[in-house]
Amino acid sequence: MKIGRITLSDRANAGVYADQSGPLIEAELAGLFSESVEFIARLLPDEATQLSAALCELADDVSCELVVTTGGTGPTPRDITPEATRAVLEKELPGFGEIMRLKSFEVAPTAILSRATAGIRGRTLIINLPGSPKAVRECLGFLRPAIVEALRHLRGDS
Ligand code: MTE
Repeated sequence: MKIGRITLSDRANAGVYADQSGPLIEAELAGLFSESVEFIARLLPDEATQLSAALCELADDVSCELVVTTGGTGPTPRDITPEATRAVLEKELPGFGEIMRLKSFEVAPTAILSRATAGIRGRTLIINLPGSPKAVRECLGFLRPAIVEALRHLRGDS
């Protein structure tokens, strides 16, 4: 199966620092599925048109079953990830963002600053995660069961 992961960060994209959150997505998802996984990685600046295009490419052309983004979910003017994601979703799954904020709030009160969302495009599940490695680890921990179940539904296994 193919999984896309997209890091949104002006500074990582410019080489100011290394992207840690993207590789961490791979580490955190490894072992979640019984079959072997091919990860397709993208590192982008916080630009809505580039993110929407990358989501469409990974969903429509590469046929990723899952695409996970990290970064750009916060309140600053450059944070465009939820809007650029929503622009290409066919169905939104608001529960992913709701549970990320609810559960994360118990360990990090700043979690409500994230506007992360999720949804379906074709047969692809797309999920936004906040940008920090800590948030990636915490949020994927909350979402694993729902990710597995959503992919079963999208494959028509249930
Ligand atoms: N969620 C979890 N689980 N843990 C965190 O540390 N950090 C928050 C929030 N969500 C955080 C979290 C902070 S400080 C911000 S600003 C927002 O995610 C948005 O982050 P982003 O713009 O990098 O996506």
